[in-house]
Amino acid sequence: MTEWIWLNGDILPMSDARLGVEDRGFQFADGVYEVIRLYDSKPFTLERHLQRLWNSAIDIQITPPLTPDVLTVEIQKLIAHTGVGEGMVYLQLTRGVSPRNHLFPETIEPTLLFYTRPLPKVIPPGTGEGAKLLTVEDDRWKRCWIKSIALLPNVLAKNTAVAAGADEAVFIDVGGYVTECSASNFFAIINGKLVTHPVGSKVLPGITRAVLLEIAEELGIEVDERAIREEEAARAEELFITSTTREISWVSRWNDIYIGQGRCGPITRKLHEAFQARVKRELESPVPEAAAV
Ligand code: PDD
Repeated sequence: MTEWIWLNGDILPMSDARLGVEDRGFQFADGVYEVIRLYDSKPFTLERHLQRLWNSAIDIQITPPLTPDVLTVEIQKLIAHTGVGEGMVYLQLTRGVSPRNHLFPETIEPTLLFYTRPLPKVIPPGTGEGAKLLTVEDDRWKRCWIKSIALLPNVLAKNTAVAAGADEAVFIDVGGYVTECSASNFFAIINGKLVTHPVGSKVLPGITRAVLLEIAEELGIEVDERAIREEEAARAEELFITSTTREISWVSRWNDIYIGQGRCGPITRKLHEAFQARVKRELESPVPEAAAV
């Protein structure tokens, strides 16, 4: 089956897509990205993803070549073209192609591309084996609020986790604090409260995280945004991780120690059920969320 890509304004077969070797994305990881979830061919929280894309781009001094409104239309065109139902859109924006030089070129056209990928349907809350986590040192930079394509520390951490029989790496920062995971945000239920590290230098402002915090408030679950030490987190009643592609994954084990006796906890399950209800509601709603950019 042909895979399609939107590249700098054109939709073409992925196999025909060509990029300059000196794209600064290749040479300097000079770019940002987004992953947007599709349910039944509809992008979930697209406006928030585009807002974050703009924030990331502005922080590294790249001006996106399209406005959010035009980009929304173009993304919808590609989704209609590929016909993917359950899946995701991967979007990448780099500074563009120019002879290699650390300095920003004076004139340069950004490279913008996106494509869709099918994903399996998410599993019902509380089912499956649960995620297995492994602790890894957080050796990333201090601008993790930027959704940068420079993901090598995340890639290495994830591979370390999988090589050890786990499926996600938990980053532990200086001082022994849990920040987030290699490709997801980290949450603990401690004394019935939902605890998670604030976003910022070491934590990406995850869109799933933001939606989840709103849901917790709606459900009357107290939220405590603070740094937690690994020892405290490991004693939590429940742990879970969130991302666009996972939604919410309950954690069964961390460094081979069972969490909550290896079963999904009631608060995690309740939050995930409410998250899926929110997805359903938003997708059925004729009025999309207001564009925030
Ligand atoms: N990753 N933290 C990191 C480091 C991430 O890479 C991600 C997402 C998240 C969760 O963010 P969100 O809820 O907006 O997806 C947190 C994506 C899915 C990826 O790189 O594939």
